[in-house]
Amino acid sequence: MNYSFSGCDTVELAKEYGTPLYVMSEDIIMDKINEINNSFLKNYDNVEAYYASKAFLTKEMARIIKREGLGLDVVSGGELYTAKAVDFPVNKIMFHGNNKTVKEIKMALNYEVGHFVCDSIGEIQLIDELAKDLDTRANILIRVTPGVDSDTHKYISTGNVDSKFGVPLPLLKQAVETSTKLENIVLKGFHFHVGSQLFDNTSHLLATEIVLNIIKEMKEELGFITEELDLGGGFGIYYKKGDDVKDLSYFIEPMMKLIEKFTSDNNLLRPKISIEPGRWIVGEAGITLYTIGSIKEIPGVRTYVGVDGGMTDNPRPALYQAEYEALVANKIDKECTETVTIAGKCCESGDILIWDLKVPSLESGDILAIKSTGAYNYSMASNYNRVERPAVIMLKEGTPRLVVKRESYEDMLINEL
Ligand code: LLP
Repeated sequence: MNYSFSGCDTVELAKEYGTPLYVMSEDIIMDKINEINNSFLKNYDNVEAYYASKAFLTKEMARIIKREGLGLDVVSGGELYTAKAVDFPVNKIMFHGNNKTVKEIKMALNYEVGHFVCDSIGEIQLIDELAKDLDTRANILIRVTPGVDSDTHKYISTGNVDSKFGVPLPLLKQAVETSTKLENIVLKGFHFHVGSQLFDNTSHLLATEIVLNIIKEMKEELGFITEELDLGGGFGIYYKKGDDVKDLSYFIEPMMKLIEKFTSDNNLLRPKISIEPGRWIVGEAGITLYTIGSIKEIPGVRTYVGVDGGMTDNPRPALYQAEYEALVANKIDKECTETVTIAGKCCESGDILIWDLKVPSLESGDILAIKSTGAYNYSMASNYNRVERPAVIMLKEGTPRLVVKRESYEDMLINEL
């Protein structure tokens, strides 16, 4: 019996499209979007949801987000260009980034993106100057570094005091004062993002409380009225046993309660609230299929099983010691009798996708399916060792469609003279 994912036989998919193969399920993406609708958008007035496109962006993904009416969080000219390529409504684009270049800012101003999320006072001044040259005005949110720690890998924790992201609390007042004085800047409010892959809402709640106090202070001290507040993303997904995944409402409800209560107690305008999850929308919607090649048993040590991809299509185990679950797609009814280590094909000892995976007896040619690879895999893929990037297919109601062709060797040389 073969492993079926989102109504499709994965072994057949591997045969038809080749491996490695990113397989995304539009049905699962839709389940997540429906949950955002039901537990956030339909439950509160004056709210908006953005998809953090850094998690997984292709033209087709941007089309799905556009069709479903969500906004798009982009962090680079490349993500912005992809959105533009499918005529994504520019007023629903939030442009992030801790060091936006002049080229990117000009591009975003020319496109008239809905918001810039500003990361420093210098950047606010730069956007003002460039907006003046183009005779336009930019709506901005100031990204606040709330100074809260979060329980996740240090590389994906972003709200702590010593962070490259955001305006530190001691500089906030100055950032607000500067923004309100600049003619080509319209300061709408604030943004925070505490970290990624979180199972606990503590740091979200702490950051919300800190930013609410800032909103109050800025009104009292500068007369500034906050119209918008973006709570970021970071909601955790299931990768492996023990991952204590919560519903979206576990994060949303207490934050919204806190905001409603604080603003009404303090006689403040309840700002428009937005969220911007990335991983939570696409992470569990993706799997990666590989073909097993070499099987190398080191007697008394371990067995390395080589696959035809690795850190080039999934750098997360090497970067964050991320752990994944996997199964042998053509042998799901066979008993798991062996423990093996899944090795990528790159020239790096650290290119190991899974340590100590329980599997049935393996043969070269078997198909391995690694689960929960929908976020930060395709988007972080590289051509290290000149390995071609895999194709991406999207499944909808049991029917696959190709959304990104497999890269060719010619593609890799396209810019070389
Ligand atoms: N908003 C902002 C401002 C962010 O910096 C991020 C992620 C998100 C939203 C979306 O976070 P999510 O909902 O996906 O957790 N490459 C890493 C993740 C880096 C996340 C960076 N910022 C990984 O593979 O785990």
